[in-house]
Amino acid sequence: MILSGAARLAGVMGWPVAHSLSPRLHGYWLRHHGIDGAYLPLPVRPEAFERALDSLAALGFRGVNVTLPHKPAALAACDSVDAVAARIGAVNTIVFEDGKALGSNSDAYGFLEHLRQSLPAWRADAGPAVVLGAGGAARAVAVALIDAGVPGIRIATRSAERAAALASSLDGTLSTVAWPPPPAALADAGLLVNTTSLGMTGQPPLTIDLSGLPAGAAVYDIVYNPLETALLAEARRRGHPAVDGLGMLLHQARPGFARWFGVEPEVTEDLRRFLLGA
Ligand SMILES: NC(=O)c1ccc[n+]([C@@H]2O[C@H](COP(=O)([O-])OP(=O)(O)OC[C@H]3O[C@@H](n4cnc5c(N)ncnc54)[C@H](OP(=O)(O)O)[C@@H]3O)[C@@H](O)[C@H]2O)c1
Repeated sequence: MILSGAARLAGVMGWPVAHSLSPRLHGYWLRHHGIDGAYLPLPVRPEAFERALDSLAALGFRGVNVTLPHKPAALAACDSVDAVAARIGAVNTIVFEDGKALGSNSDAYGFLEHLRQSLPAWRADAGPAVVLGAGGAARAVAVALIDAGVPGIRIATRSAERAAALASSLDGTLSTVAWPPPPAALADAGLLVNTTSLGMTGQPPLTIDLSGLPAGAAVYDIVYNPLETALLAEARRRGHPAVDGLGMLLHQARPGFARWFGVEPEVTEDLRRFLLGA
């Protein structure tokens, strides 16, 4: 796409950022919709975050995505943040408007949209959810599940302190269970979600006993590299509906794209194929 002088600009701030799929993802949508705009990788050292954010606003950027390690810093740097970002404690999407940086967090939205698109029959009231991990992604997943109306969330993570801190810091019915979760901790659950980095390329696999999980309970692994983790393979083998992590990444990008470029983008099979061919 050849840009005009009025091209709309956005990008992703991270350190490092070279591995990010976001420039290809937004680039696909820009080309698909024939938009006069660009979405750039923006490598920004942690100590330069605030300065870089001010500079992008001064350069006329419409806004930015923020990825590791800047998400908590973005929460502090924005002029205002929405309620979801405040509860998650991190900002991943910023819109520059009238000289202000407006922060939000679309990870919870992306998580739930992908679940609903992948498993239209999934119902929040089917039973409690078991969430593995208590890091940044776990907070977003827990907020999504609370807001969806899941009747209870059981947090299982290797650090009992982190599990308790997450459970007590959110306004829903959260409890903690042992790590790794024993079969009894999965009883009557409607959903099991892995938010740990286990199973990711370069990390040990996540191996937990799924025998306690009721038939029909869904298993969602937010790790997307590889797409088919050992957890998902085992879930499919046992007949559970399985949801991979790529769609969460794709759906979380939609609100920012819509705000910066003025078009509601869609997550399609063609987009997934394009990104998997990367
Ligand atoms: N699909 C998406 O859009 C999406 C979005 C965000 C993140 N993710 C993926 O989600 C994963 C977590 O991201 P994050 O930002 O939440 O990371 P994080 O804040 O570092 O949290 C990682 C979690 O994994 C646990 N963990 C790490 N190694 C472990 C091990 N050997 N045994 C047991 N638990 C272990 C950590 O436990 P401790 O607290 O004890 O260290 C922590 O609870 C990453 O793979 C990331 O790529 C995907």
